[in-house]
Amino acid sequence: MSSANSKRGANSKNSKVGTDTGSQAATGDLSRRRLLGSVGAAGATGLVLGAAGGATGYVATRPDDQAALTTVGSTRAMFHGKHQPGITTPLQARGHLIAFDLAPGAGQKEAAALMRRWSAAAERLMAGEPTGGSEDGTAHDTGIALDAGPSSLTVTFGFGYTFFERTGLVDHRPPGLDPLPPFSSDRLDAKRSNGDLWVQVGADDALVAFHALRAIQKEAATTARVRWQMNGFNRTPGATAAPMTARNLMGQIDGTGNPKPSESDFDRRIFVPPHTGEGGNAEYAWLAGGSYAVVRRIRMLLDDWEKLPVDGQERVIGRRKADGAPLSGGTETTEMDLDKAGPDGKLLIPDNAHARISSPERNSGAAMLRRPFSYHDGIAADGTPDAGLLFICWQADPLKGFVPVQRKLDRGDALSPFIRHEASGLFAVPGGAAAGEYVGQRLLES
Ligand code: HEM
Repeated sequence: MSSANSKRGANSKNSKVGTDTGSQAATGDLSRRRLLGSVGAAGATGLVLGAAGGATGYVATRPDDQAALTTVGSTRAMFHGKHQPGITTPLQARGHLIAFDLAPGAGQKEAAALMRRWSAAAERLMAGEPTGGSEDGTAHDTGIALDAGPSSLTVTFGFGYTFFERTGLVDHRPPGLDPLPPFSSDRLDAKRSNGDLWVQVGADDALVAFHALRAIQKEAATTARVRWQMNGFNRTPGATAAPMTARNLMGQIDGTGNPKPSESDFDRRIFVPPHTGEGGNAEYAWLAGGSYAVVRRIRMLLDDWEKLPVDGQERVIGRRKADGAPLSGGTETTEMDLDKAGPDGKLLIPDNAHARISSPERNSGAAMLRRPFSYHDGIAADGTPDAGLLFICWQADPLKGFVPVQRKLDRGDALSPFIRHEASGLFAVPGGAAAGEYVGQRLLES
């Protein structure tokens, strides 16, 4: 992924993605100073790129790319908004996913207090401020990020299926949270799956991300216990001139086919609409403006994958490795032509190609916003890299997004022999908190 990432610096219009959702804003004197101070350097880079040929247009058409090289620390995502941040926010370089279970004895009241604490902490952290102290002096800021700017930090909160039993709110549990069906290729570790509460932390600086993770963990105090935690990463913004869509650890450009916020049906596909009216599902009204996150830890069998020649790898996906263009021709953004055959009469995008099988066209329009992080947890006991994708996809309804597509992939995806789904989670992610509100308040005070 991601097309979300591709928005970061693609043009100034796109860099405003998510103004109502947790947008990015380079703020303050610091960023202005950095920008002014870096004009010379950016200009010089442009000249070098231009002189190298082929890249001349880059500087002219993507001015924000240059800014991205210099405003990493000062870029700020907004905590308050219609949607929570971390969904349409451009992909960050660093990510942590952490799931908690409520401690024995903790119910709705304690969960509400926790969400209030977490929201207050997230708001401060995302503004680049320390988390402040508690009266007894125990909750002091760790100081890990004291000298860093917000660095595009986002903190996103979700509720798992079991949260509703623990808090006595089962009547408010939407059907979309029903457990995902089993898939034949699942090799899931229950201990690293699901959970009452889920928090996604993303930032363009590793220390800023870790600082936020620690703060969230500390604020959980005696109310919730860590169930599992995963760490991921993406390319650092500004590290490349192009492509702007990220690569995954298989080397593929990943995120091209994502729904784009500029598309008219984007909100309908990704965010839960208001549930109101006669016989309507008022009990789920709290989720309006929210979304569902499906989280899968997908191990990549890289030793096997890397043995495939590049043209073999390309047939597995249906797109070219170098530039992400479909095998039916064109550039990365050209629509796939799923019916086009080569001179030998064979389909150019093979029958079992991943991009064919997962395409909305072949899944009654089922679509999701994929916004993953790569992970690498060292070398596994069998001597192979414990690495892959923390696959996170967002949709208004998992039954119209992840589930039908994964069902189909499970049956015949050419990628299957090279990946293994090792953990899974499904979380209802409330809409963004209004000013003065905490995330989930509409549920927890209903
Ligand atoms: C490690 C596992 C996976 C890898 C390496 C991977 C890689 C890719 C790549 C390279 C593409 C083509 C470029 C693009 O459109 O982004 C793609 C497309 C896509 N993938 Fe995956 N993918 C993985 C797992 C999944 C899973 C589990 C799902 C959902 C169940 C999924 C759904 C999709 C969808 C919806 C598309 C876009 C298809 C289109 O719009 O034409 N992928 N994936």
